[in-house]
Amino acid sequence: MKLSVIGCGYLGAVHAAAMASIGHDVVGIDVDVRKIEALQQGHAPFYEPGLPEILQQGIASGRLRFTTDMSEAADATVHFVGVGTPQQRDGDAADLTYVNAAIDDLLPFLKPDDIVVGKSTVPVGTAAQLTPRVDAVGATLVWNPEFLREGWAVQDTIHPDRIVVGIPPTEAGTRASNILREVFHTATANDTPFIVTDLATSELVKVAANAFLATKISFINAMAEIAEVTGADVTQLADAIGHDDRIGRRFLGAGIGFGGGCLPKDIRAFAARAEELGRGESVAFLREVDEINVRRRDRAVQLVVGALGRQVYNKRVTVLGAAFKPHSDDIRDSPALDVAVRLRGLGALVTVTDPAALANAQAQHPQLTYVHDRDAALQGADAVIVVTEWDEYRRNLTPEHAASLVNQRIIVDGRNCLDPSAWRAAGWSYYGMGRP
Ligand code: UGA
Repeated sequence: MKLSVIGCGYLGAVHAAAMASIGHDVVGIDVDVRKIEALQQGHAPFYEPGLPEILQQGIASGRLRFTTDMSEAADATVHFVGVGTPQQRDGDAADLTYVNAAIDDLLPFLKPDDIVVGKSTVPVGTAAQLTPRVDAVGATLVWNPEFLREGWAVQDTIHPDRIVVGIPPTEAGTRASNILREVFHTATANDTPFIVTDLATSELVKVAANAFLATKISFINAMAEIAEVTGADVTQLADAIGHDDRIGRRFLGAGIGFGGGCLPKDIRAFAARAEELGRGESVAFLREVDEINVRRRDRAVQLVVGALGRQVYNKRVTVLGAAFKPHSDDIRDSPALDVAVRLRGLGALVTVTDPAALANAQAQHPQLTYVHDRDAALQGADAVIVVTEWDEYRRNLTPEHAASLVNQRIIVDGRNCLDPSAWRAAGWSYYGMGRP
């Protein structure tokens, strides 16, 4: 099938390459010339395991190409819109400028019976607002939220755990959902749940899912705060409650909390939209979820400051991690970098290392020192803090080896990813998040 993908950021670039890899003829379109040039040469503009391979295969096969020219969408019959919906500069709501611009730019090239598939995360009601413009040219607008995780994006796109399609209550809507079943043939052939809803439900599914995940993380971080004043161990608590299938252990990792380009902005946009709808109280708890999350960054900084006897000025602090999570070079709203910046603000000499995110971090926070080599970064440290649980720090760094590099054996485990007894046995002062 001939597809266009408008917006070649995280979502769009992966979607375009993944759709080509399952046999479709795909054109990816973006206004960013540099991004398009990189993609057309088979270079992923961000770190995502597996993406360079499927980009290069797609381009070599002739089934995948990238352009800045919207008129090339005219050949396609299904058009995915995956542009960004960032947080507004002066508020919490989502900025829909790029979604509106993408639809406006696409409209002149749409043919009757074409299908426009919104994938961007949008406030509930957006699809209904856009529908008359798409209807006017005889095309059909549906919404198909994306649930991919960075670091697993290729796998999540080709083998999603569910496909949700919001359609209008018309024959054209039903036809569009049937066509999308064909588009996602690899998943539907494997009996992946294919859930057809109205437009509003599909928009809400996406923000509800992210709100739930954020709430789960803040719940366990709230338990960590209680554990800290009672001497309890939040990781044991998470293991114990996680055995209950109704609760589940995943996303109960207490630590410095969630960041990235999705969870933080999505819960804020959801709360803002609920307020616009006169239902602010229904999701008022999301403000609390946000506050708990941000408090954990303060806590991590306090642990370092306390461990250094409140003498932080000119002390060497090595920060292991910069990305908002492992297997990513994304530093958007990264709790890891935020902790590093705060420590620098207190006068510490902060050295940051990360296997993938250093170039992005350096561009955004030039005031920090960046060292690629982990061991070089640890050299002479007065304190070490793990803020992104890459295997390089979690599995492949032994406390004995680290001890041979540092000046003082102080380790703060901002992700509760180390074995406290092993580090203590090697002479380290170990500080976890909500664990003694
Ligand atoms: C999230 C969702 O998980 C995806 O389903 C969704 O499609 C995506 O947002 C999106 O809206 O595009 P992602 O931003 O890639 O995916 O990151 P997650 O894996 O959800 O992690 C988010 C943050 O939570 C990270 O900073 C991570 O370190 C933190 N986290 C995760 C915890 O602090 N504790 C945990 O137990 C799990």
